[in-house]
Amino acid sequence: MRNLNEDTITQAVIASLNGCRDERLHTVITSLVQHLHSFARETKLTEAEWQAAIAFLTATGHITDDKRQEFILLSDVLGLSTLVTAQNHAKPAGCTEATVFGPFYVTGSPEYRSFDDISNGARGEPCFVRGQVRALDGKAITNALLEVWQADEDGHYDVQLPPGDNGAVEHRARGKLRTDADGRFAFRSILAEPYPIPHDGPVGALLSALGRHPWRPAHLHFMIQARGYETLITHVFRDGDRYLDSDAVFGVRSTLVAQWVRHRPGTAPDGSRVDVPYYTLDYDFVLNPQGSAA
Ligand code: BEZ
Ligand code: FE
Repeated sequence: MRNLNEDTITQAVIASLNGCRDERLHTVITSLVQHLHSFARETKLTEAEWQAAIAFLTATGHITDDKRQEFILLSDVLGLSTLVTAQNHAKPAGCTEATVFGPFYVTGSPEYRSFDDISNGARGEPCFVRGQVRALDGKAITNALLEVWQADEDGHYDVQLPPGDNGAVEHRARGKLRTDADGRFAFRSILAEPYPIPHDGPVGALLSALGRHPWRPAHLHFMIQARGYETLITHVFRDGDRYLDSDAVFGVRSTLVAQWVRHRPGTAPDGSRVDVPYYTLDYDFVLNPQGSAA
């Protein structure tokens, strides 16, 4: 393995993997080397460009910590997250489609009961969300665990806000709920609004160099788990949003777009009196049985 050149280097690297005992790792790295080298050949990558790429990845690592995941953001804006989600979550027709997870899910969110207000002080217009979780045959799924999370009216998730006096992040506009005997769930929260993904780091600089905006259309995140069904990670998007066709992370699917209906002040679905205009969203989810192929 000497005197390697433009024509022989790729095969030499691939041959060096022969001792790899992990078959899958061997397959993935062989393919990665082939594509990486093809990319460098096709673009005739210069040394300055190679250095810029190293500097970009270094900056992406430096800004990443337990609260900010710039590598996931990079995967999102390059469409890799949507590709990986799509090829791993093909579902039979009639099931609710999956979309990207995003970086703002946290474990340990509060548990709520039907019609509780999950906003916990997050700012935004009141919104009442109702729906049912069903199987493909229409059967209601009882006791499914729903986790919901969303941004406030300024476009911030709770984890992006400064911690409270005790140093802990207060859970706002996120929580867990269980479906009832009829598979139904309901909660009060705030109106979903469009927001820009974090764009004050290397990924934001890349977007602006590419002439792209950082905005996501208004949405609610859901993760739904039920025994015997594939876990569903998805969003519901607000119809009419100006960014539905230019989502910075390519996550929108038509079947996930729903109407948020505006109401005048009055009696809300939970029976309470609301003195300001409020919104309702009705959206049902259909889960894929575990082990079923598309
Ligand atoms: C989100 O919707 O929370 C999100 C998804 C991808 C990148 C940034 C944010
Ligand atoms: Fe989001």
